[in-house]
Amino acid sequence: MEPDNKIAIKNIIEKYEAVQCSLNPILHEIIHENGIIEKDDIEIIAKYLNLSRAEVWGVVSFYSDFKKKPQKSHIQICCGEACQAQGSAQNADEYLTQNGLVWGENSNGVLVEKIFCLGLCSRGPAALENGQLIANFGGDE
Ligand code: FES
Repeated sequence: MEPDNKIAIKNIIEKYEAVQCSLNPILHEIIHENGIIEKDDIEIIAKYLNLSRAEVWGVVSFYSDFKKKPQKSHIQICCGEACQAQGSAQNADEYLTQNGLVWGENSNGVLVEKIFCLGLCSRGPAALENGQLIANFGGDE
């Protein structure tokens, strides 16, 4: 008998049986349901989609949306040109220093990453915190 989460992963995979290029939708749903993609999940997904574990891992590790560690908070700070012109690098450095965080590391459950353009250029510097857009990140507003 398999643990419940493995059965749940199989149920998710089976929902996408008729869908071509179903890896990303499956990964998104696993993140949505479980908040994490476990090493075991990668093996199950690879087996069901007839892919190698390396192929599945390549997608999981490439996209920041498929982070492997549980996070309390996920902050993405825009480092696009418009936001840089509005001080995003300085604001980000101050934010990281004040909160004891490091780019790209999961510190105390908080992951801060760079992103390039959130479509909020005119109200930059922009950031995205747990899916919520933030205008004038680190500014006075
Ligand atoms: S460059 Fe930052 S939102 Fe466009």
